[in-house]
Amino acid sequence: MTITRRNFVRLSTLAMVSLPITRSLSAPLYPRRIKLVLHPEQRNWFPETEIPIDLWGFDHDVLRLRRGETVEIEVENRLTSPSSVHWHGLRIDNQMDGVSGMTQAPILPGERFIYRFTPEDAGTYWAHSHHQSYEQLAKGLYMPLIVEENEPVDVDQDILMAIDDWRVNQQRQLDTNSIGSLHDWSHGGRMGNVFTVNKLIQPAFDVVAGSRVRLRLINTANARIFSILPPTFPAWISAKDGQPLPSPIEHSGQFFIGPAERYDFVLDIPEDAEGTYAFQMPGNPSPLDLAYLRILGSQPKRGDSPPKPFPANALTRYNDTDVTQSIRLEMTGGAMGSLRQAMYQGRLMELNELIQNRQIWAFNGTASRPDEPLLEAKTGDVVEIELINNSRWPHSMHLHGHHFKANSPHYDSSMWHDTLLIAGGESVKIQFQAGKPGSWLLHCHMIEHQAAGMVSWIRVVA
Ligand code: C2O
Ligand code: CU
Repeated sequence: MTITRRNFVRLSTLAMVSLPITRSLSAPLYPRRIKLVLHPEQRNWFPETEIPIDLWGFDHDVLRLRRGETVEIEVENRLTSPSSVHWHGLRIDNQMDGVSGMTQAPILPGERFIYRFTPEDAGTYWAHSHHQSYEQLAKGLYMPLIVEENEPVDVDQDILMAIDDWRVNQQRQLDTNSIGSLHDWSHGGRMGNVFTVNKLIQPAFDVVAGSRVRLRLINTANARIFSILPPTFPAWISAKDGQPLPSPIEHSGQFFIGPAERYDFVLDIPEDAEGTYAFQMPGNPSPLDLAYLRILGSQPKRGDSPPKPFPANALTRYNDTDVTQSIRLEMTGGAMGSLRQAMYQGRLMELNELIQNRQIWAFNGTASRPDEPLLEAKTGDVVEIELINNSRWPHSMHLHGHHFKANSPHYDSSMWHDTLLIAGGESVKIQFQAGKPGSWLLHCHMIEHQAAGMVSWIRVVA
């Protein structure tokens, strides 16, 4: 039979009639489709020059997903370099983790990649390039990511602050010449001299006196540990790295947030608040204002009691006695460190040869991602890693695809983390339950340290 137009119409009608009609109407037939573009972008940070600064970015200021809702995200790369997108903190299938050269091939310029996953956890996350990250993050290739709770959280307003620093030159453009500087790589990483919140300089957020605000803070800097002095309003830490605290912890005064860490605060704006209040970065000779809350109107005070915890995600609790495997990860290297030699690409090298290969740091004596994983675990096993920082520098350690508990003195023990600050000379034990099968990176999120050797991985098998 030749398919004439009339036949074709009849056939497709038939096909429609024969669609199964038992499917529940409430379940979506298809995953939600989202299109994201990686592209060059410009920002007017220096109005006096009339020339915008050139950055890289996503075509969305923020991506809002829903817990449990499957999404298909088509990422189009309109940059001149290959790239990939990592969904930092999401516990999703390993092939969707976005690590170029490990879980996927890079997305070439002009090409697309479709990420398909279902966020298991509500909370504050971020998406960023995981290809040549030290360059692409320095240029701004990241985007905050919010996974909404199934039940709304009891606040009047939701404010997001992604805090960053940028190294800008005399011409008021990104200092790209210093990207890859070995001095940065061997010290504290790339530090900037211009500070932004949501890629804006000193933005002001309007809030109502008497209201209760959820404030999501993300440190998107390459390497800076931000110290932040918020307005002196009643405040509680309600979530760390996306995961709710079982009971919010009252907080006052300055706090620290390491690269890639997130905190959700609940803030009660006093009824008698007026004018403008700054989030400051303490500094010399004077503190620097990062962002403002601007009081607009008032409402009767509603936050009389401490906030209720956010609805919990489905993370499994376990006990110390569940630990089936315990290993050590010794971090060495960096300026003023004792690294003399290390394995790199299967060969033992002396320090000068390592430096020629831009390697300055090591995990258990190996610089950069080894062929063999740090450990192998079965899904469901509880694993402990002792992170031993035998260097003079703090590190912001991130494990992909998992959340862990830590016995660090700097954090409340009820917190879950996907990223953790570890001070120079300190040892911290982390524990987690091995999650989805695959290869998961464990690296320093001071992203120059990662490039210069601080990266390993674990293998999870079903
Ligand atoms: Cu946020 Cu491997 O990174
Ligand atoms: Cu580091």
